[in-house]
Formats: sequence, C-alpha cells, structure tokens
Amino acid sequence: MFASLPPTASGQARAPTWARVAPGVWRTQIGKPEGLTLLGAAGARPAVEALRKLPDLPFPLDPKGIEARQWGWKTAVRFPLALDEDVYGLGVDFKTVRRTGSVFQLHVDHWGGVTGRTHAPVPLYVSTRGYAVLFNTARYLNVSVGLGVRLAAVEKPPVIDRTTGKGWAALPRSDSVEALANAEGMEVFVFAGPTPLDAVRRYNLFNGGGALPPKWGLGFLARTPTRYGAEQALAEIAEFREQGIPLDMLGLEPGWQDHAYPCSFEWDSSRFPDPARFLAEVERQHVKVNLWFNPYVSPTAPLYRKLLPFAGTHLVWNGIVPDYTLPEPRRIFADHLERRVVSLNPRAVGGFKIDEVDGYDRYLWPDTALFPSGHDGEQLRQTYGLLVQRMIYDLFRRQNRRTFGQVRGTNAGASSLPFVIYNDNYAFDEYITAVGNSGFAGVLWSPEVRGGKGEEMLRRMQAVVFSPLALFNGWATDDKLWTHEEVRDDIRAAIILRMRLLPYLYTTFAQYHYEGTPVVRPMQLVEGFKAAGQPERGRLDAAANPYAISLVEEVKDQYMLGDSLLVAPIPPGVKTRKVVLPAGRWYDFYTGELAGDGQTIEVTPPLSRIPLFVRDGALIPLIGERQWAPGPDEVLPLEVRHYGELPGETALYDDDGESFDYERGDYSWTRLSVTKDACGAWRGQVTPDKSGKRWRYSNVSWTFMTAVAANTL
Ligand code: GAL
Repeated sequence: MFASLPPTASGQARAPTWARVAPGVWRTQIGKPEGLTLLGAAGARPAVEALRKLPDLPFPLDPKGIEARQWGWKTAVRFPLALDEDVYGLGVDFKTVRRTGSVFQLHVDHWGGVTGRTHAPVPLYVSTRGYAVLFNTARYLNVSVGLGVRLAAVEKPPVIDRTTGKGWAALPRSDSVEALANAEGMEVFVFAGPTPLDAVRRYNLFNGGGALPPKWGLGFLARTPTRYGAEQALAEIAEFREQGIPLDMLGLEPGWQDHAYPCSFEWDSSRFPDPARFLAEVERQHVKVNLWFNPYVSPTAPLYRKLLPFAGTHLVWNGIVPDYTLPEPRRIFADHLERRVVSLNPRAVGGFKIDEVDGYDRYLWPDTALFPSGHDGEQLRQTYGLLVQRMIYDLFRRQNRRTFGQVRGTNAGASSLPFVIYNDNYAFDEYITAVGNSGFAGVLWSPEVRGGKGEEMLRRMQAVVFSPLALFNGWATDDKLWTHEEVRDDIRAAIILRMRLLPYLYTTFAQYHYEGTPVVRPMQLVEGFKAAGQPERGRLDAAANPYAISLVEEVKDQYMLGDSLLVAPIPPGVKTRKVVLPAGRWYDFYTGELAGDGQTIEVTPPLSRIPLFVRDGALIPLIGERQWAPGPDEVLPLEVRHYGELPGETALYDDDGESFDYERGDYSWTRLSVTKDACGAWRGQVTPDKSGKRWRYSNVSWTFMTAVAANTL
C-alpha cells in the first residue's frame, strides 16, 4: 500500500493496527503515549453495558487506507475521504456545520471567528458514511478536511488550465482527512455506526453516556447582577414568584466572593453576612443557587497558600493557576468548595458556573507556561475546563446529589459532565448554529439571553427555552424579564411551556445518558433529512467538475430537540422563515394541524409562538403549569398529546430527579402507546415498567391533537 510513498526524513508512513475496545469502537496508539489525554482529563469511562446493546459491526473503513507518521515532536494521521462523503463535527463552530473543504486549528478559545478556535474544539469528526473518528490528544490539532491533494492519491483532481479551461477549482478536493499535532504520539479512536447518529451514540457512550441533569436543572435559571447581596438575591426570587415566572435556579455572579478576578472562593461578608441563613431561605423558595467562579486563585485567599506549591509558571489576573492534573491540588480545591459552600446547604447549592477556562491568548497563560506535573501551557489550555468540570461533578457525586452548571471551555470526553457551554457573543444565528453543532460534539450548548428590546428579548427567550439550559444572564444589567411589559406575558408563556414539557425533556436527557443519543440533534443527524438543493449522495456531478467542493445548502438554523420536536427559532426582526421538514408528515405543535410532508415550508408565526413541529405518530408527554420543577415525592397528572395519523409509541423515563440512585437501578421506563380501536377511534395505553418500578405521574389524559384539529375545522 505504501510502496508509492517514499520513506522520508520526516517519518515513515505506516498503517496503524486497531484494537477493538468495545462493540463498534477501535483504538490505536501512534508513537509514544502522552500522559495527558482529553478523555483522561475528563475522567471518561465507557458505559460498557450500554455499548454492548449496540450492534457489533466490522471496522467501518479500509484499514489499509489509514496512514500514521511520527517524527520528532510531530504526529500525523491520514484517513480516507470518499468523493461522495461529507464530514461534520470538529467542535462547536458558530458559522458552519459542514466541515468538508476547510482547515481547522482546534484550540480551546473564546469564539473569535477563527476556524477551530472555540469553547469546545472537540477533535471528533462524524462522516456521512456512518462512522466517527476521535483524535484523543491534549495538543492543539491541525485538521485538514478534503484539502491538500497527495502526490500518492490514486484519483487526482483533473489538471485544468485556469486561463482557458472550465471548472478550475481554487480548492481541489482531496481524498483525505489529515490531522497533525506537535506531539510524540497520539491515541486515535474509530466509532462505527451504521448511521452517523449511531457513531455519535457510541462516542457518547464510550465517555460514560450523556449527562443526566436533576429535574430542577431543566427549569429556569436567572443570573443576578454581579454586586447583588443576599437581600437582593432573595428579593429577586420573590419577584419571580410574584410575577408568576418559573424559577428553579438563581445565579450568583462574581460578587458572592470577597475577591474576584482573581477569586477568593470565600463568601463576601458584607453582601452575604450569613450564607447558611441565606441558603436556608433559598431552599424554602424551591430554588438552587449556582455560583460563578473562574479558577484563578487570589493571593488574598486562604486557599492560595495551600495551592501555591502546585501553581503553574504564569498568572491569570494575578491569580495562580493550579495544576489540576495532579490529585493533591484537586483534593484541596474540591474540599474547600465542599466545606465552605456546598455543605452549608446541599439542597440549596445546585452548582457552579466555571468561567474563563476558554480564554483568549491575550489573557490566559501563554503556551510557554509550564506546570509542576511537567505538562505545558498547551496541554493545560486544552484540558483546563474538563479538569475543573470533573472536580465539581465528583464533589456533587460524593454528596449523592446531581448538579447542573455552566462552563465556558470544554473538550472531548465531556459527554457525561453535566455542564452547559455559554459565551459572551450575542449573534442570534451563530448561537443557533452552535446549539446544533453541539450534537456532533458530545456537549451541551445554550444561547445566552442578556437583553434586547421587546420583540428581540422575546425571540431570544423563545429560543433559549428550547435549548439544554433555559437562562437569563442578568449579570451586567438592571434589566429584568418583567420590565419588558409588551412581551412579558409571552416570555412567561414560553418558560411555562418548557416547564410543561419537563417529562419530554427529561426523557430526552435519559436517552442521552442511557443510549448516547444527543439532546439536540442537528438536522444532518436526523433520519430522512435531506436539505433542499443537496445532491443525492454518490451522484455528484462527476462529469462537470468532480473535485470541486459542492456548494451544499447548509441547514443550521433549525434542529431536533429529542425524538419528536423540530425547533425552528425565529431570529429577532424576522417575520417569515423557511423550515426544511425531514421525510414524512409533520404537524404544528400548538394546533395539531398538518404542516407539511417532507418538504420545505414557509411559516409566519405570531409573536407569541416559536415554530415547533412534531413527527407523525409522535407522543408528547406534558405536566401542568408550574413555577418550579417537581420534587422526588410529587406525583403529577400527565397529559399525553398524540400528533398525526400514525399510531404512536414512546417510552417515558422517570427517577427521583435529584440523586444518583438511578445508577443502582432506581428508575423506570413506562411505555405510552396510541392505536385506533375497531371503531376507528384513537385510544391511549400505559404499560408500566417490567421491573415494577414506578413513575411519578398519575391520571393520564390523552389529547389527540390532529383528530381534534380536524373536528374543529
Ligand atoms: C464573563 C461571563 C459572564 C459573566 C461575567 C462576570 O466572562 O461570560 O457571563 O459571568 O464574566 O464577570
């Protein structure tokens, strides 16, 4: 195979050998193993049982077509890319979903518009041929997708004279995906499908399965202005209750500490004179607090002295950067947060917001930094967010309480870490693209809502309630949801709709956890989806210009949330938008009326509604209106809505909603089904979990949305 490749001074190409490490998952090691990897930093451990339930497929590529080279401080690997193949993934990008025809510098960073520099530069790519590849390196990674034609390529692009010829391509398409890291070695994994979605599932399960948040994590989070003290925070909760706007989590920003940028991790005694009393009151209001920090430790902090021996060579905002690849500083930091914050009231402290672990080069440590473990600035940059998430997650696990928090920098291996990424950007369309892209990367992303006038505020709120974490980030403003009088009722209605959908959302997260299926599914992962204008696979115009990059329309402004809901957010200022419906009939969520059949439709919804479409035969379970998520002992009436003309079936997940007891089998999947009886009338049926484990719902009522719509015409 490599006879055509001359051995060079810079490393002999060889075909790596692959070891099967789980059904449909293979591993190889090129060169020397590096001590620190992304999956290692994330503490990812395969969900072995769940992986065994997936089909045990053969290796999805021709192993002879894969080449690895290692020389000095460089490791390169080449995977074949067929002409009719497209590639997605490679991290949470904000501009595009399709990756073919681009070069990426995967690098943890605050999104600055440079390809590959993002909050989650997950080096996983997903192929339309139904497999995925992970470069498990804690180094910056250069990935070239379908570019850089090799001399040794069997099929080369045609040679065309640009002056006189037709079809000359500026970016002739290559037959490779090539990755390069400045490393002595690299671990690589291949995940089989058979579909692209199955490949993503295997990746998520290989990392332990997706995060399962507590039920209250699926409620609403409001973050307060940075200088708020205990009284103002409690007044804010009271105002939410007064306004009838649901609230489950209250975010405290830098001012809960007595020093921030760098941080002290100590309550500020003037703003929070009695934290335990404050937390007791928060608990009485059925709210959890979520506390902001960035992990850079202030010289004024008691923690400083203990962590100083483990500090890296550089400071961030004059705070030390502890080396959390080492166990001792991890223990010191987690113990401190546990003692000084969480243990004051574990029922009221719900989690943390891990800020500024993404960084811009100009304010985090430079790549020249070194850390006591021997790891360098680049390795810590790629893993810092993972390391801190893992510490916080483990802290809550020890308490047998689930957490749901926010993080601004993460990477591969994070599927089971219960944190949602955010950023300071405010471009609506980029946010929606990022929400979709998160589904290829095993992470959760929510667009931030900080403000906007009237209609803009409403459209942003409608989008965020149909994302993994519904939040308003009021850290820098006096703006409150209720000050937007002209849209206040619609904002309230949007959040209440999210609360009503809690059984559906919780089941969607359970699918993420137990089956690895992403919460948000970009359209390219959805069966039966073919974007308008997209050429049939394998039928690219080979005669005219076989190697030009096909200008495929990218659908990145709509996505599936769970199995059955297609979400098509309306950007501020827009009245009408297109929605591309996958194959089959789709119905309007609100009315049950037929919206279209595998076609592109145009919708002009009223201001009060975000367009939502439901698959034919889908069942959507809802609870009644509420102001906070149900507790573990509450039993609630359930409404099940059926849409369309096909019979339907779904499995509804339930557990106590706040502990890890589900890991010991304390959960249930209840089957809900709808069929037509002999007289042609729809009937719903509930089949309890075989294990005898109960759910927390009662009095099931059935609404046959499409049938009702037809009768009221
Ligand atoms: C930013 C963060 C904001 C807010 C702020 C507080 O970096 O993205 O959401 O928390 O810090 O200083």
